[in-house]
Amino acid sequence: MKQTIKSALAAVALVLGTVPAVFGASDGVRIEHLGLNNTLVRVTGNGKYVMLPVEDSKDDARINVLSDGRLDRTINVRLAQSKVDFYVPFDITPYKGHELVLNVVTPQGRSSIREAQDDACWKNITVADTFSVANTEKHRPAYHHTPQWGWMNDPNGMFWKDGVWHLYYQYNPYGSKWQNLSWGHSTSTDLINWEHQPVALEPDGLGMIFSGSCVVDSANTAGFGKDAVLAMYTSADVSQVQSLATSTDGGRTFTRFPGNPTLTLSSEARDPNMFWNDKTGEWNLVLAHALDHEMLIFTSPDMKTWTLQSAFGKGEGAQDGVWECPDLFELPVSGTDEKKWVLICNINPGGPFGGSAAQYFTGEFDGKTFKADTDASGKIPTKWMDYGKDHYATVSWSGAPDGRRVVIGWMSNWQYAAEVPTRQFRSANTLPRDMELFKGHDGQVYLASVPSPELLALRDRLAVSVRGAAVNTKGKSFALPAGNGGVCEISLDINAMKADSVELQLSNHQGEKVIVTYNPAAHTVAFDRRESGNVGFSQNFPAVTVSPTFETGGRINLRMFIDRSSIELFGDGGRFVMTNLVFPDNPYTHMTVRSFGGKAKVSDLKIYSIK
Ligand code: FRU
Repeated sequence: MKQTIKSALAAVALVLGTVPAVFGASDGVRIEHLGLNNTLVRVTGNGKYVMLPVEDSKDDARINVLSDGRLDRTINVRLAQSKVDFYVPFDITPYKGHELVLNVVTPQGRSSIREAQDDACWKNITVADTFSVANTEKHRPAYHHTPQWGWMNDPNGMFWKDGVWHLYYQYNPYGSKWQNLSWGHSTSTDLINWEHQPVALEPDGLGMIFSGSCVVDSANTAGFGKDAVLAMYTSADVSQVQSLATSTDGGRTFTRFPGNPTLTLSSEARDPNMFWNDKTGEWNLVLAHALDHEMLIFTSPDMKTWTLQSAFGKGEGAQDGVWECPDLFELPVSGTDEKKWVLICNINPGGPFGGSAAQYFTGEFDGKTFKADTDASGKIPTKWMDYGKDHYATVSWSGAPDGRRVVIGWMSNWQYAAEVPTRQFRSANTLPRDMELFKGHDGQVYLASVPSPELLALRDRLAVSVRGAAVNTKGKSFALPAGNGGVCEISLDINAMKADSVELQLSNHQGEKVIVTYNPAAHTVAFDRRESGNVGFSQNFPAVTVSPTFETGGRINLRMFIDRSSIELFGDGGRFVMTNLVFPDNPYTHMTVRSFGGKAKVSDLKIYSIK
């Protein structure tokens, strides 16, 4: 039959003087090669998904999805040329009963149609009823939120409603690198266990769906109904404009506002973060004026019309990279009657150890203008939320209960996020953290990131418990729990006494190690991951990160959360924090504590395995 069609076409081509299309077939699809870079895939079989074969290192093919001949959407996929790294499912259930054709334009670089025909994707593209999301990767975290497959960057649009924590995130469902940005969605009732939900927002005619925020409109100011969930996000194509979407089913599905975009500027601006301001009785919106290194502050009565009130940041704080993903909220300062506003400005690059990082400013906000605190010399100091390399795009949940201000970050760095040694998914979120303000010895107000209390529920068996132990250069070793890929929580107090430094070394039998060093005279903790495991995928990965400890008196408390590819270190109840990825070939099996220059004391050491 195929042969007959082919010869018939060849005959027609002969008459018309053209070259015939070349046909192929795979399970459930019929393939027509039209030219060097253009192939039609007709979906003929029944099933739920077209399984798209991906080769991670190749360039994107552009796929126009035609339903009954009309363009329904365009997706970009790194279709396999020489080998299939993994598959991504394209859901075809919405097209049941319609003719479905994928019009594929592959990247340039073929010299003949024969070569193009041989691409691995054409032999392997199929229609299937199931797609397995079982984990096959040793570096997938055991207790951090990750997408089931595909690429993730910023957390965004988070809100709490009726006992549910909603987490949306920058998501590519069709590959493990940044592309097709949509809002993925997960929900949790305990901030630990996450349930994956359908994608909430997908690219449209205004562009990809970049980061933004959600609020619950309890007073129905916008007219979409009491308690409607309102999302504002950046529509990103050639330009970046701000759009509104509304949900009346608690954030599961969204309807785009017909008048989008609701806010346009003639320069790059993104990541709208909005909140209801009780004091002024109107909406506030902070927008990252990315290339101008500042945050713009707007007001609105109804979320549809916005008035620019002020800009903050030009020339202030770290200015090296673009300013992105803002957040603005008020908190009490622990141990005082004061309250302060905190303006979070994620920047990339320009972080203290290269690449992405979250800086913040403390100060006053009157609903229109943010005025940052200054130091003794009258300058606005640069402050960082986290002194690791893998803490970015951190923003908070809107409407968290009990006055809490809970944040979560993207646990990666733009320097190497697309190169980390995972395959079918890329990136995890940090653990959730409750924000608190405290006064440092220099009189400045600082942000503490307290591990959220929900994390206590992760603790399983108490594997090691040591009331007190003296350490010296020889050191003491403690076995880490071996089960569940070595995931654990370690908590301990260190008294440096006369020692110049105290070192915690996490290591395995292959000699892979992470070294955490407390230096009481410098008031710092350093985290060295240069020999932590696989560090070779990017020259920017091996690093030593250093955090101020804000303490005096040579004593610190540390809580470390170890997952399969990350370590989060919280000092003194979150007053200093370091989040760093690590990719050991095998889990770390031991922690060795040593001191140099004198004896030190470790007390209340507890190592918990994790459920
Ligand atoms: C931050 C960011 C945002 C943008 C999003 C795009 O990581 O660059 O500014 O909205 O990622 O995915």
